Amino acid sequence: MHRRRPRYPGRNPRKFEHKYKELRAGEYPEAAAHIEARGKTLAGSHRPIMVAEILEVLAPKPGERGVDCTLGHAGHALALLERLRADGASGQLLGLDVDPLELPRAGARLLAAGHGPEAAITVASNFAGLHGVLESLGWSGADIVLADLGVSSMQIDNPDRGFTFKFDGPLDLRLNPQRGVSAADWLAGVRPARLEATLRDGADEPRAARLAAAMVEARAKTPFRRTKVLADWLRAWSDPATPREEVERFVRRVFQALRIAINDEYSALETWLRNLPGCLNPGGRVAVLTFHSGEDRRVKAAFREGLQQGLYSAIADEVIRPSPEEQRANTRSSSAKLRWAVRAEEAKLSASGGVPEV
Ligand SMILES: C[S@@+](CC[C@H](N)C(=O)[O-])C[C@H]1O[C@@H](n2cnc3c(N)ncnc32)[C@H](O)[C@@H]1O
Repeated sequence: MHRRRPRYPGRNPRKFEHKYKELRAGEYPEAAAHIEARGKTLAGSHRPIMVAEILEVLAPKPGERGVDCTLGHAGHALALLERLRADGASGQLLGLDVDPLELPRAGARLLAAGHGPEAAITVASNFAGLHGVLESLGWSGADIVLADLGVSSMQIDNPDRGFTFKFDGPLDLRLNPQRGVSAADWLAGVRPARLEATLRDGADEPRAARLAAAMVEARAKTPFRRTKVLADWLRAWSDPATPREEVERFVRRVFQALRIAINDEYSALETWLRNLPGCLNPGGRVAVLTFHSGEDRRVKAAFREGLQQGLYSAIADEVIRPSPEEQRANTRSSSAKLRWAVRAEEAKLSASGGVPEV
């Protein structure tokens, strides 16, 4: 059936909703292949990162139970399920995500690939609550656990979610838009000291104090309610001598810091890391993909501490990075760092399943 393409100015669509060839890639395979060959991700989809490396460190075996704590587009989940259910084995994968908009789509993708609800269980939950979800399913633990932190390309690309500053949209930034406050509301009332700490911890911003004071002063005249308003204000605040790419990196880091604060990402990660040994079966493997220093620092410290306490029998000495080919083929992979750990066979756990009290 011939459908008219959406109307947009110029030869190429710039707005997310106009990228009909990417949003319906199945109908336009050549256009989709052309975009991917340029290292870009198709609008409305997500390319899983470091799949081969993750399969190597997690080593999923037929019949085992796995957890994908950040289901996203289900790219990693599909690769894991293929191994868990190889040779007709009855392996299972639990997939969690806080995003109530994307989770049903990921579930439908798993079902379409032949993984019914007995094999692929999806639960809308923050991974900070993994221990409770496992308990509610009657699982004593998982053999493999994956967390691919941060946001998916579907979330970034959709201007209505407020994660992107490439296009104008409401300054929302919530992974779950049905809970908590939007970045716009948060910024309207946040105290300067909290904003300064947010910019320092989430963006490693050396001018955090000055920037926080300037934003608080500016918000009375320029309420930061749209992504474009905030991005333009940040660009104007920057030193005019700063190269353009550096300014854009600064804007991206500020958006990242706000996203981390709005979604309480560090406290979710810390809770998850604390409870993780108790969520893994003896000998169970965990892999974590991080995308900035604040995440990696926390994972590295928790794994080291767990090794010292005998909760893990082995951890990654060094981070594993995507190959140069993958970084070229998928520019969004370029900041990824992979760490892994193996749960000790005889770990002494506290009642909550986490690190024992001393
Ligand atoms: C990078 S994407 C995962 C992509 C996925 N691995 C794939 O292959 O398609 C990260 C996902 O984690 C979700 N997420 C982020 N923080 C979370 C949390 N604390 N609990 C559960 N899900 C979370 C996001 O909503 C997003 O869908």
